[in-house]
Amino acid sequence: MTRPRQPAEPFRIKSVEPIKLLDRAAREEKIVEAHYNIFKIDAADIYIDLLTDSGTAAMSNRQWAALMMGDESYAGARSFRRFEEVVKGIFHKQFVIPCHQGRSAENMMFSTVVKPGQYVLNNTHFDTTRGNTQHKGGIAVDLPCPEVDAPVPLPFKGDMDTERLEKFIKEHGTDSIAMVIMTVTSNSVGGQPVSMKNIKKVSAICKKHNLPFFFDCARFAENCFFIRRDEPGYAEKSIREIAGEMFDACDGVMMSAKKDGLANIGGFIALNDEELYQKLTNLMILIEGFPTYGGLAGRDMEVLAVGLLEVMDLDYLSHRVDQVHYFGEVLKEAGMPIVEPTGGHAVFVDAGQFLPHIPPEQFPGQSLTVAFYVEGGIRIVEIGSLMFGGKDPVTGEKMTAPRELVRMALPRRVYTNSHLDYIGETAARIAAGKEMLRGYKISYQSPFLRHFTCKMEAIPEENVEVNS
Ligand code: F0G
Repeated sequence: MTRPRQPAEPFRIKSVEPIKLLDRAAREEKIVEAHYNIFKIDAADIYIDLLTDSGTAAMSNRQWAALMMGDESYAGARSFRRFEEVVKGIFHKQFVIPCHQGRSAENMMFSTVVKPGQYVLNNTHFDTTRGNTQHKGGIAVDLPCPEVDAPVPLPFKGDMDTERLEKFIKEHGTDSIAMVIMTVTSNSVGGQPVSMKNIKKVSAICKKHNLPFFFDCARFAENCFFIRRDEPGYAEKSIREIAGEMFDACDGVMMSAKKDGLANIGGFIALNDEELYQKLTNLMILIEGFPTYGGLAGRDMEVLAVGLLEVMDLDYLSHRVDQVHYFGEVLKEAGMPIVEPTGGHAVFVDAGQFLPHIPPEQFPGQSLTVAFYVEGGIRIVEIGSLMFGGKDPVTGEKMTAPRELVRMALPRRVYTNSHLDYIGETAARIAAGKEMLRGYKISYQSPFLRHFTCKMEAIPEENVEVNS
C-alpha cells in the first residue's frame, strides 16, 4: 500500500446509527425509479452519503448535554447570551444576529445592502450567495486567483485576485460595488483555503476605497488550520488567534454554521456597523424571528456555542484535514483523477478526465455519480454541466461548466477510515469497467437549479444524441 497510514480517529463512539447496504438489484431498481437523479433517492436507501458536509456532522457528548440546557424563552433567552458571547469572542464583532442557516443570512444581508445593478465581488461565490445576490438585482462577480485551476498543488488556491480587484474598482467605481466577500474556504473551487496575506491585502484595498468587506465563513476553522500548517509565521499560533487575526481584517461575517459550527442547523451574521445591524434586525423580525433567536431554538444556540469552540481543537482539525487528504489518496490509488491539493471538506474527482468517451453534453459526472450508487450504495454529487449547464434562466444563453467534476463531501466526525477504504474498493471496481459507463440525457428539467429535480435517461450505446 502506497498511501500514508492515517492516525486513528481522535474520538470514540458513544451513539451509533445503523446503515444498510441494499443489494445490487435493489439499488438498480432505486436508481431507475429516481430517474437517475441521486437527489430523489431516500436517505434510507443510501449506504454512505457524501452529498454534503452541511448539517450532517455528528455532535459531541458536550453538545448533546448543552442541548438539554436550551432556554426557549421568546426574548432574551440565556441560550442566546451564551451563543452571542462565543461568537463575539471568536469573530471579534459587536453585534450578533442568529439565523436559521447561511442562505437566510445572505438573503437578509443582500436585501439590505444590494441596490439593483450593483456588483458583489467574491473570491468565488457559492451558489446560494450568487443566487441571493442575483435575486436582489445584484451582479455577482468572481475574482479567483489565476492559479486556481493550475495542475500543481499550490497551498492557497482559494485566494482572491487582488490585481483584478483593484482594476475592477478603478473601472466601475466604488458606488457600483455593494460589498466585497471572501469565502473561506472557497467551496466552489474545491474547498481551497485563502491565505492570511491575501485576506490582509483585500482588506487594505477595501479600506482604501471605503468598501464593506465581509466573510462567508462557513468553513473558517478549516481555513485557519491551513494557514497554521502552510503559511509562514503561523505554526506557533492557536486556531483561535489565527481566527481573531483573520476577522479583525473585516467589517463582518455571514456564516452557515451547519459546517464548522458542528451543528445540524444554524447560522448568523456578526458585524460592527450599528446602523446596518438595526436595519438587519428590523427585517429579521419580519421574516426570521425575534433578534434573540432568529429562526433557531434555544437548544440550537446552545449546541452552536459548544460546536464553534470544539471545531477549533487542533486534534479534531488535523484529523479532519488529514482524513480528506487520505480519502484523496485512496481514490487516486483506485485510478481516479482528483483535484489537488485536496481542500478542507471534500474530494473532487475529474469525471471528464476519467471518462473521456463521454462528452460533456452527456454528463460524465452524472455517469460516475450513478455508478457509485449502483456499485456501492454511495451518494456523491455532480458538479459539472448538469449543475451549471443548460440555458441561463435570465438571458437564455447556453451555459457550460468549466470542468466535469463530482464532489465527495465528508460529513464531520461521521465516517471512519474503513468507510473510506470501502469507497476506494468501489472506485477501483468502477475504474476497472469504466469503458462500460454510458452518458445520460435529460427528459425533464426546471428553469432554475435543474439538477435537484431533473429526470434523466441513459443513452444507449449506438445513440450519439446530444442534450441542449
Ligand atoms: N456559503 C457557503 C460557502 C456554503 O458552502 C453554503 C452551503 C452556504 C453559504 C449556504 O449555507 O446551506 O446553511 O444555507 N453549502 C452546502 C454545500 C449546501 O453542500 O456545500 P446554508
